[in-house]
Amino acid sequence: MKHLIDIQNLTIEEIDELIEVARDIIKHKEKYAHKCDGKKIATLFFEPSTRTRLSFEAAMLELGGSVLGFSEAASSSSAKGESVSDTIRVVGAYSDIIAMRHPKEGAPLVASLKSIVPIINAGDGGHNHPTQTLTDLLTIKCEKGRLDNLTIGLCGDLMFGRTVHSLITAMIRYPNIKFVLISPKELMIPEYIKKDVLEKNKIEYCETTDIEEYIDKLDILYMTRVQKERFFNEDDYVRLKDYYILNKEKLKNAKEDLCIMHPLPRVNEISTDVDDDKRACYFKQAEYGKYIRMALILKMLGVK
Ligand code: NCD
Repeated sequence: MKHLIDIQNLTIEEIDELIEVARDIIKHKEKYAHKCDGKKIATLFFEPSTRTRLSFEAAMLELGGSVLGFSEAASSSSAKGESVSDTIRVVGAYSDIIAMRHPKEGAPLVASLKSIVPIINAGDGGHNHPTQTLTDLLTIKCEKGRLDNLTIGLCGDLMFGRTVHSLITAMIRYPNIKFVLISPKELMIPEYIKKDVLEKNKIEYCETTDIEEYIDKLDILYMTRVQKERFFNEDDYVRLKDYYILNKEKLKNAKEDLCIMHPLPRVNEISTDVDDDKRACYFKQAEYGKYIRMALILKMLGVK
């Protein structure tokens, strides 16, 4: 494998293998401490991030490698007008692998066409976020014990939420997956996901604006924040930002073994009184992100 731009670049077998390696890393961290000695990852973040960038960096450091990069476009030469392609050509000479986040859909794909080292898409606009999906798959596998036979509620900004788009694209490949799509009318899942992903693959799904309507049916409830940075109009954001606030009361009919996930950052969409509920998995999910990225770096660098 050369680049990871879309979760579809990985087969189910490759995903299973990454999950197994990540689980082995969790159990035997010491075995992996020098696997990437002398290797470097560049994290090129043209858009803000906490978890994704730091988990890539922590992953490489825990493998014995080192890190370089920038965390905002303003501190890179893109502020002077340099193209992504030129930046990538140059950074390829300084590093062995690149994780890149960009506000423009497709930017990591364009970068990969010019890159001499593997590129990982760490989020491109409202489009895709494959390593968050790997994180989510590892979380589901560890917390539910399976990736099939699940009813998954996706709630919040389904229009701009790239983690949701990638997760749906990944989960439809497992048997008997159903989706409940919960969003305000203005933030419904894009038509292309409905037509080209869900309907084309005959996946059962329904849409609702009411978070409690199907809550008793869900095995997973995946909450998302309203993506402020993708709005054209501040008033629309203010009107929609607190549309869903998950709290203990709304969970009263939920299953005992529901798994509540969130890619984070959280704004208001999960009340902090849910944090100590045993069904809240979002902080654990963030931790799994480091282990799956360790497994991914090993695979992409061809380290055994
Ligand atoms: C997500 C992202 O960047 O898309 N965060 C993350 O990577 N953990 C979700 C978000 O920003 O809302």
